[in-house]
Amino acid sequence: MSQAPELIVDPHVNATGELRSVHKPVPHDSAERHVAGTALYVDDVFEPAGCLHVAVGGSPSAAGRIARLDLERVRAAPGVVAVATAADIPGHNDISPIGAGDDPILAGDEVVFHGQPLFIVIARDRLSARRAVGLAAIEIEETAPLLTAEAAADANAMVSPDFDIVRGDAAAGIAAAPRRLSGKLMIGGQEHFYLEGQAALAVPEEGGDMYVLTSTQHPSEVQKAVAEMLRQPLSTVTAEVRRMGGGFGGKESQAGQWAVLAALGARITGKPCKLRLDRDDDMIMTGKRHDFATFWKVGFDDEGTLLALELDFLARCGHSADLSVGVVDRTVFHADNAYYLKDIAARSRRLRTNTVSNTAFRGFGGPQGILAIEHVIDQVAHALGQDPFDVRMRNLYGPGRDVTPYGMEVFDNIAPEVMASVAERSGYRARRQEIARFNNENAFLKKGIAITPVKFGISFTTTHLNQAGALVHVYSDGSIHLNHGGTEMGQGLYVKVAQVVADEFGVDVAYVKITATTTAKVPNTSPTAASSGTDLNAMAARLAAAQIRTRLTAFAAEILEGPPEDVRFRDNHVILGNRSMPFAELVNKAYYARISLSSTGFYKTPKIHWDRETARGRPFFYFAYGAACSEVTIDTLTGELRVDRVDIVHDVGKSLNPAIDIGQIEGGFVQGMGWLTTEELVWDERGRLRTHAPSTYKIPTSSDVPAEFHVHLFDCENREGAIYGSKAVGEPPLMLAISVHSAIFDAIAGMARPEAPIPLRAPATPEAILNAIDAVRGDAVQEAYR
Ligand code: MTE
Ligand code: MOS
Repeated sequence: MSQAPELIVDPHVNATGELRSVHKPVPHDSAERHVAGTALYVDDVFEPAGCLHVAVGGSPSAAGRIARLDLERVRAAPGVVAVATAADIPGHNDISPIGAGDDPILAGDEVVFHGQPLFIVIARDRLSARRAVGLAAIEIEETAPLLTAEAAADANAMVSPDFDIVRGDAAAGIAAAPRRLSGKLMIGGQEHFYLEGQAALAVPEEGGDMYVLTSTQHPSEVQKAVAEMLRQPLSTVTAEVRRMGGGFGGKESQAGQWAVLAALGARITGKPCKLRLDRDDDMIMTGKRHDFATFWKVGFDDEGTLLALELDFLARCGHSADLSVGVVDRTVFHADNAYYLKDIAARSRRLRTNTVSNTAFRGFGGPQGILAIEHVIDQVAHALGQDPFDVRMRNLYGPGRDVTPYGMEVFDNIAPEVMASVAERSGYRARRQEIARFNNENAFLKKGIAITPVKFGISFTTTHLNQAGALVHVYSDGSIHLNHGGTEMGQGLYVKVAQVVADEFGVDVAYVKITATTTAKVPNTSPTAASSGTDLNAMAARLAAAQIRTRLTAFAAEILEGPPEDVRFRDNHVILGNRSMPFAELVNKAYYARISLSSTGFYKTPKIHWDRETARGRPFFYFAYGAACSEVTIDTLTGELRVDRVDIVHDVGKSLNPAIDIGQIEGGFVQGMGWLTTEELVWDERGRLRTHAPSTYKIPTSSDVPAEFHVHLFDCENREGAIYGSKAVGEPPLMLAISVHSAIFDAIAGMARPEAPIPLRAPATPEAILNAIDAVRGDAVQEAYR
């Protein structure tokens, strides 16, 4: 039977009655090191003596049978120590994160996507390994690849069964509605483009043990993958990560393969082995955000109230399930965004294609669901000739209409207030008029403006993942060693947890030593994902610290001679009445008195439950909200886009660290802008990714950051018992960028007749913008230009 963790702390209140670090803009613990270049990533750590280097050989075809894999010339190449294929894997040749058995480490007989790893080369240096890869003689008996979601849907090729969330009778609702619209929205994928690519260093230890330094959001999964590949118990493998140079979901499940291949090299050669993917290989060989073909049908009335909605999400999952079950579930969970829909059918298909296996990416499928309904609302507002902001406000969740299609009450709904706040701060109404004037006066440049909301569910929808552990030591000099299961990828998790632990002991953050995440200290951890890293790990660490503090409290009462309930830890001291003692001195005395100064902590999210069979429950502990107003200018002759001004009001509850949170909001927004405007993935007819380098794949740069960019934290405590009234912040802000897509829609809609739907896909690249303009105005603009 599972035992409920004893909550010896109040999630909202600190025992000292004073918070010195929590809620303060404490700098990221590694900020200076990031800037100075002294923060160590996998590839920066001193290589152990005799370290070898691994390069990966990939499939030249997207689909077929391996007829010949001749590695003689590879083996004979200069510097090469060994080569390995699937046949050399001692244990399990699969790293599927859900145990689906469809993610081979190295392909056996069959290849399923272009670039799929077939073999590794282990050489004395990285360049020799990479050069040798090119000498392989590979013949594939090719079969016709399935490349798009729609083609896979026609072929009924799936990675897992369909999943729908349905309430009422959407089809009947649409048929009976006074007005109807339907259409198709293509939603592009996204490359993670973490600055530090996939990397791992495997060091063989005595007795067959294996140590792996890895760049992963999920050390416990890397540990498991390596152990299963080696056919060894988990206890013989240690996975460690100090930090990632970004993960964004791309290192949730997909860091495992590279760690496993480094460990395979280490096992075969008996030497330390490092594998760092080249950027092109990284882009070709690792999965991305899922792209979707989305079909929508909506019924509404003349006022713009949505009466019924049908959405069919066809997700391109790639060749395997990976995390697609959860990712696409989150798409349908978020197909309502912040809107009440009495009759809705949100249906989803997880389609198997001969492309790289798509995976987690900031928002985990949620952004695609939210984009779909926001696009539908844009079309409805356009058809009615109404201000889209009014249509949105009219359809938000509210009293008497506050239950989601999956039966969860939107108990903490602040969407109307957040929307109103951003409308006011941005001066939306006045600016809409100015924009109308501008558009009247300018033939070729057109402006658009839009406000869109975000409501994002916080918790893993896989309920068992909502748990975390921590380990805290206090050394005899009063310094504190902090460890937990969460990983640092730049999002500021480590410093937030350190703030919480410092306040538990009433000491400065400087007392707390942040240490690398390792499976040897905290076992069986969940990935740092679903934005829940702080909610989970800060509570676990706080509980660990609170246990030590409880012991120290009893001891302080003894030596300072007073009642334990009067003992306070503050200002780096322990205080009792008018007596006090430095924290370090108390700890030192406690050591001599033989008091344990180390503790673990464990936390699991309360209240959540989810029944996927009936698609009903409370999958989320709470929702995080936000809204953004974006203004854009498009050049109708070139399709060029500029984002002129962005105003954001975002809900992080009572912020644990406003500096970090504002950074997350700005970064998330710009990353979302990239997804929706410039980042375009192109595969050719043979299933080869043509955009596998920054020369052809355009991520936003500093010059794309809106010239005017205002971020405001909505002042509101989390009503649920999350740590100190805060809310998760990692993913939700990405979806604020949907306002940019809507603003582009708005600019184009201004040129169109109401009966012409606007076929604006995502990403809204210059080509996509021009195509949409062509569709609504005929070729007039193009003609004028020629
Ligand atoms: N911020 C930075 N700088 N780098 C990242 O890789 N990943 C995002 C988000 N913010 C990421 C980031 C994603 S996908 C998630 S799920 C969360 O951070 C994970 O961390 P958290 O749970 O601590 O918020
Ligand atoms: Mo984030 S996509 O949950 O790693």
